Amino acid sequence: KPSTLFVSAVSSETTLPEGHDMIKRALATRALERVKSGMVIGLGTGSTASLAIEELGKLIRQGKLKDVVGVGANYQSKVLARQFGVKTVDLNDVNQIDIAFDGVDEVDFNKNMLKGGGAAHTMQKVVDSVAKECIILADQSKVVLQFGSTCPVPVEVIPGAISPVLRRLVSLGGIPEIRSALRKDGPVITDLGNMIVDVSFPGGIQDPAELEKNINMIPGVVENGIVSGVATSVLVAVEDGAKIEV
Ligand code: 5RP
Repeated sequence: KPSTLFVSAVSSETTLPEGHDMIKRALATRALERVKSGMVIGLGTGSTASLAIEELGKLIRQGKLKDVVGVGANYQSKVLARQFGVKTVDLNDVNQIDIAFDGVDEVDFNKNMLKGGGAAHTMQKVVDSVAKECIILADQSKVVLQFGSTCPVPVEVIPGAISPVLRRLVSLGGIPEIRSALRKDGPVITDLGNMIVDVSFPGGIQDPAELEKNINMIPGVVENGIVSGVATSVLVAVEDGAKIEV
């Protein structure tokens, strides 16, 4: 039921700042109201999650939140946390994450997500899935009725297994394409030293959870970008800034 999933980033009393990033920042600020002192926070990746890290740092520096530590999902989020004054700890050194904030490339009304546009989905999935609460920050362009209709599924693959994995992805009905690095002659290499294959499924994906499982069962696949059953809330930045959305 969409009405239970989506809230606007700003209340009707809020003066909406100009520009898209300002809307995302308003969304991040609103989401951070759920953080309390002493919490362990999962720090996601992407422009929206980065704004949440920056705003979290502000709250810590202003003394409004104490003893909060972050668990960065990858290099980008760890570097930003350091830059904005959020202390980080290693995922292996905490027993649990209270709240994870993350962005998304596509999300449907069942809170199925597509991640991996930034080639960082493997550790994002780990961090998001161990959090008690996983809050996804999105703008309206990310919300879809048909899952898989706007983005391919990113699949992280061990380089030595690329050919057999490509064949198996085709047998699952996908059209795979190895992601190449912009302005470089070669493939994208992830933080974990692997390659990314973007797999399109013409007509969209009918059963995201099933496809997530089937792709991960292919030997040589590290992780794919479908994330089902993990997000606990999806906050959507609404440009008109009106009220509870849908
Ligand atoms: C990276 C991701 C990000 O969460 C995703 O790309 C969202 O980014 P943005 O908030 O900039 O749209 O999955 O792998």
